Amino acid sequence: MSYRISVSNQKGGVGKTTICLHLSVALAKRDRKVLIVDLDPSAYLSAHLGLDDYYYDENKNSLAYNLVEGPQSNPEDVILGTEEGVDVIPSNYDMRGVEDRLSAERNREMRLKMFLDNVDEGYDYTMIDSPPSLGVLYDNAILACQRVVIPIKDEDMSIVSIHRALDEIDELEKAFGTSIEILAIVPNLVRPDGVAASTLERLRNTDGLKEYLTPFEIRQRVAIRRSMKNRTTLYKHKASCDQVENFMKLADLVISKCEGGSKNGE
Ligand SMILES: Nc1ncnc2c1ncn2[C@@H]1O[C@H](COP(=O)(O)OP(=O)(O)O)[C@@H](O)[C@H]1O
Ligand SMILES: [Mg+2]
Repeated sequence: MSYRISVSNQKGGVGKTTICLHLSVALAKRDRKVLIVDLDPSAYLSAHLGLDDYYYDENKNSLAYNLVEGPQSNPEDVILGTEEGVDVIPSNYDMRGVEDRLSAERNREMRLKMFLDNVDEGYDYTMIDSPPSLGVLYDNAILACQRVVIPIKDEDMSIVSIHRALDEIDELEKAFGTSIEILAIVPNLVRPDGVAASTLERLRNTDGLKEYLTPFEIRQRVAIRRSMKNRTTLYKHKASCDQVENFMKLADLVISKCEGGSKNGE
């Protein structure tokens, strides 16, 4: 059974795709077998992994088809390998219509879970890159995983906005009678002239937040933006960048929270 983790935040541009990709590859560097699911109709993560052509393919085995029609495909027909050491189920053009097509369907929030139950057995981690808005796909991501990592952007770093992100998860827990574990809230795009170190420290010592906020932050670095633009990862683009260490720390934190220190909790 795979540990499923959704990288979620209803806001765009906070670094969901960047963190999903770099955390996934970091987990692979720790010898975990990782599958990424690109649930964002804009398919940025798929594009970053070089899967542009796949985007417009008419494909019976697309993620969209499996979400709308219910699980149809075998793992080998939907999962693609990549040069980054992780496998991926890409997004494609048809994902744009999925929210509308699911709107009147039964079990519409559970479609991703039903699909993944069929395909991710052989993976240690399944990582979901979540879309940037609340809706059926967002709900599907959270409910398939029941574990989340929440990136928060430098300028949103306040008690109010962190609580807003936590409240969304709370509401889903109540609505679906389920329990969702917040593995980490990750400050991202932290700038030297942005959120003050003292503010971050204060948030890290605030009851109700301190158990979630990571003791490290991902800083804003041109190399991270360039690596994404160049369709690769920071590990390949600039392995000497100081933020590589923080992505590895995030992977180690996720591993210790999920596995309790040993692979697959053994
Ligand atoms: N730590 C960072 N340093 C520099 N640029 C970053 C960092 N994190 C994300 N970015 C850039 O910010 C933009 C938005 O990030 P992205 O991961 O696409 O956010 P989201 O998926 O939440 O919309 C992208 O251009 C990405 O390359
Ligand atoms: Mg994204």
